Amino acid sequence: MTHDTASNGHHTHDVHEALGFVERRKERFLEELKDLLRIPSISTLPAHKKDMRRAAKFVAAQLASIGLKKVKVIKTDGHPLVYGEWLEAPDKPTVLLYGHYDVQPVDPLNKWISDPFEPQIRDENIYARGAVDDKGQMFGLLKALEALMTTYHGLPVNVRVLIEGEEEAGGESIEAYVRAHPEKLACDVALVADTGMPAPGVPSLVYGLRGILYTEIVAKGAREDLHSGAFGGVAPNPIHALALVLSGLKGADGRITIPELYERLTPISDEERALWARNPLDIPALLKQAMGIESLPGEQDYSPLERLTARPTLEVHGIAGGFTGEGAKTVIPAEATAKVSVRLPPELHPDEVLPLLQARVAALCPQGVTMEVRLVHQGEGLLVPIDNVYMRAAERALEQEWGRPPVFEREGGSIPVGALFGSILHAPVVFMGTGLPDDNIHAPNEKFHIPNFYHGIRQAIRFLDIIGSDPAVLARPEVMATASPQAKPLASPKRPRATSTPARQKADVGS
Ligand code: BES
Ligand code: MN
Ligand code: MN
Repeated sequence: MTHDTASNGHHTHDVHEALGFVERRKERFLEELKDLLRIPSISTLPAHKKDMRRAAKFVAAQLASIGLKKVKVIKTDGHPLVYGEWLEAPDKPTVLLYGHYDVQPVDPLNKWISDPFEPQIRDENIYARGAVDDKGQMFGLLKALEALMTTYHGLPVNVRVLIEGEEEAGGESIEAYVRAHPEKLACDVALVADTGMPAPGVPSLVYGLRGILYTEIVAKGAREDLHSGAFGGVAPNPIHALALVLSGLKGADGRITIPELYERLTPISDEERALWARNPLDIPALLKQAMGIESLPGEQDYSPLERLTARPTLEVHGIAGGFTGEGAKTVIPAEATAKVSVRLPPELHPDEVLPLLQARVAALCPQGVTMEVRLVHQGEGLLVPIDNVYMRAAERALEQEWGRPPVFEREGGSIPVGALFGSILHAPVVFMGTGLPDDNIHAPNEKFHIPNFYHGIRQAIRFLDIIGSDPAVLARPEVMATASPQAKPLASPKRPRATSTPARQKADVGS
């Protein structure tokens, strides 16, 4: 019925069969997603180790029921990876689908309107931790495979699926796996559904993410806590010392006081600025609305979009120490800690930024206190080439799904494994997500706009269908012509290979 045979002898399928399959199974897909959302798979909290395994098994069972082969839960030093493959489409490209089943912690719990792990539907949204980041979006990729597998009796492309459980914890295990077994993940392109759209109805292709360096600064003063009357005036105070250091690391002008960070940046090219200018939205207004504030702090010499996606930023996530209970206690604490991260444009590698941060903290640290900057986790940023057949296919898929072409964006967040798909697997990455700015990712009342859950499934179906049939893709042109994932997102793939400048030192953003 859907199997006309094209003149080239290959079966062609009607993508509408697969889309119709989704339409008729909306309820079931949502119910299954709820089951996944009920598992509290918080990767950063050791108490949830068992839940991590349960979530991994849930995902593996899905892969098996879709009909993927070699499905396995892969043990790691951290939380398990889930893998499955279907490689029965000779002469078709191979797509690596990636997502994560882990979620962020839920605190402050009292700010949630409903239980973070008992999904609730209000209006057109499903509320739960992980609803959009990333269980809902990742599950959408699996449902796209299910729809294609059932209606096409096989997939239009070869597929490998790799789902991790440590993305929110720095992605160490998947990094080790990709580095150790690149041949097991060989692919032509990676598809990731873990990003957002700038506004409802405006599809987005993300071609850049920032890296991250996440640290804990531990400040120590006296051997023990002290009476502030008996020792005040001669004792070091680690909390106050931390306050001095934290305020010294970044000025009120939003500038980080580590000049080397800025010296290593490549200015944004006119070509890339032109791309940004194609975005029709009033980004500052949307940002103010999303945050409920009236002005946007930060480096005023740079546009909000540039600050948000292409500039280094430093944030304090939490400070602990001393007495915070009810009432008063006159104590000078012996120790205090702060969690501090730096977001890094792809030109800056976390390995080189850590010593710079450590040196700056040491220079700012007042007398009598010692400070240690401990690495918690890190991940590289990336820029992907946008001028290639896979991006064109993604563009078409999004235009068909949404009735308007996508905007091309960098996003300010990080997906630690992303850069490795380029640098180790030599695959371009298509970041095609359906999160909305008000989805409250990492915050109380995280939600997924339910229509976007289905849009996500359908856009993945369309993308896979296109790359399984588009002659330009089937010709399998080399798209990672340059050695690094950071190289030249805007340049033509035929541009001559850059001489061997290490990617981590320089990212030439197509000048
Ligand atoms: N999905 C996000 C990354 C993201 C956020 C992409 C916003 C685009 C827009 C991802 O789950 C995430 O939160 N990553 C962490 C990584 C970190 C913990 C290593 C992040 O960016 O904080
Ligand atoms: Mn995510
Ligand atoms: Mn996240």
